Parts: sequence; C-alpha cells; structure tokens
Amino acid sequence: TSKQVRPFITFVLGGPGSGKGTQCAKIAETFGFAHLSAGELLRKEISSGCENGEMILDIIKEGNIVPSEITINLIRREIELSENRKILVDGFPRTNENRIAFESIIGVEPDLVIFFDCPEEEMVKRLLSRNQGRIDDNIETIKKRLEVFDKLNLPVINYYSSKGKLQKIKAVGTMEEIFEKVYPVFTSLRFE
Ligand code: AP5
Repeated sequence: TSKQVRPFITFVLGGPGSGKGTQCAKIAETFGFAHLSAGELLRKEISSGCENGEMILDIIKEGNIVPSEITINLIRREIELSENRKILVDGFPRTNENRIAFESIIGVEPDLVIFFDCPEEEMVKRLLSRNQGRIDDNIETIKKRLEVFDKLNLPVINYYSSKGKLQKIKAVGTMEEIFEKVYPVFTSLRFE
C-alpha cells in the first residue's frame, strides 16, 4: 500500500516569525503536502490536558525547547497516521540533538531543508502584531526565542547547508512575494 512508500520529508526552518507556518500552508495547498507543525502539535498536547501538557506549557512560556523525545514521538505518530507521503515538518529540528535523534528514531534523513532567512527586527514586528497573540508572543519571550534560535537552531541550518540540502529563501516582502521564491523549489522536485 501507499503506507509502505518511504515518505518524502521536507524540514522547514527559520526563526520565530520568519513565516514558516504561513508558507507551509501555501506549500501544502499548492503542492499537496501534509503539514506537520512541531509547535502546533505541542500546543495541541497542552490543550488536550494530557500528563505532559503542563510541563510543555511551562517550557513554551519561557521560550525554551521541549525535550526531543516528546516532539519526535508526536511527529512520528503524525507521519504514521498520514496517508500522504509528502510531508512538511515545520519548526523541526530545533537542535542538533533533535536532528540526530530524529535520524536514529525515524530512520530517515530529510530529502529537502528550507530555511526562511528573515531579519530579526522584521520577525519581532510580525510576532508583536500577530492577530491572536500566542502565549509566547510577548517581548521577553520573543527575545528568548530569538536567542535560542541563534544558539541552537543556526548550527542545524549550517549542518544542512554543509550537506548541500539547504534551500535558503530570503523571507522579506509580502507573503505572495516570498511564495514566488518558494514555488520553483517545489516545481523542480521529482517524486517517485
Ligand atoms: P513554533 O510554533 O514553531 O513557533 P516559532 O518557531 O516561534 O514560529 P512561529 O510559529 O511563531 O512563527 P512562524 O515562523 O511559523 O511564522 P508565522 O507564519 O506564524 O514553536 C513555538 C514553541 O514551541 C517554541 O518556542 C518551543 O518552545 C516549542 N517548540 C516548537 N518546536 C519545537 C521542537 N522541535 N522542539 C522543541 N520545542 C519546540 O508568521 C508569524 C506572523 O507573521 C503571523 O501573524 C503571520 O500572519 C505574519 N506574517 C507571515 N509572513 C509575513 C509576511 N511576509 N509579511 C508580513 N507578515 C507576515
């Protein structure tokens, strides 16, 4: 069945407010990908009231990183449940430890990694003006999220760049202008 086909996995990376979620929604709709957002999966865990929820809430409120095993298990479950073999993983891996754990637990490497490169002041502006502000969209937590991004996520991005897997997109301009740069990355892909 289609389930046995190895999934085509795209990691979508970028700082907080770089527009990962916005662009993933457009990619999913245009190119028929399933969209898994690590942040959304964690927020769902919080609202489901499960035993990990409170701990996850405390971590997110501080702008810190949730332990790898929690995020990876959530992503793995979604990949297994999805009939779609073309998968966007939005906001993951956050750290090199995340990356290594994913490769060993799920047993696959990403086929493609997209990095939305956005200036810090633009990211801050977007997050502060988000319509329904999230619990982590206040200035202190945003600063912490940016720090965590520089310290832990940039090394992951550099790793994929050194492997020749990284597609870097300058994430400035309107959502449509950015999507125009994303579009050719996906039209040039060939799926088995
Ligand atoms: P997550 O939900 O992934 O948040 P984030 O990385 O901080 O990113 P955002 O969702 O805030 O922004 P985005 O880049 O998706 O931009 P968006 O499209 O929404 O993670 C939240 C937290 O969960 C983390 O801090 C961490 O604690 C935890 N976590 C998540 N993943 C984890 C993992 N793998 N391991 C451990 N912990 C993890 O756009 C932002 C705003 O800008 C929107 O209002 C949008 O409308 C607007 N916008 C978008 N594009 C444009 C544009 N071109 N022009 C103007 N406005 C725009």
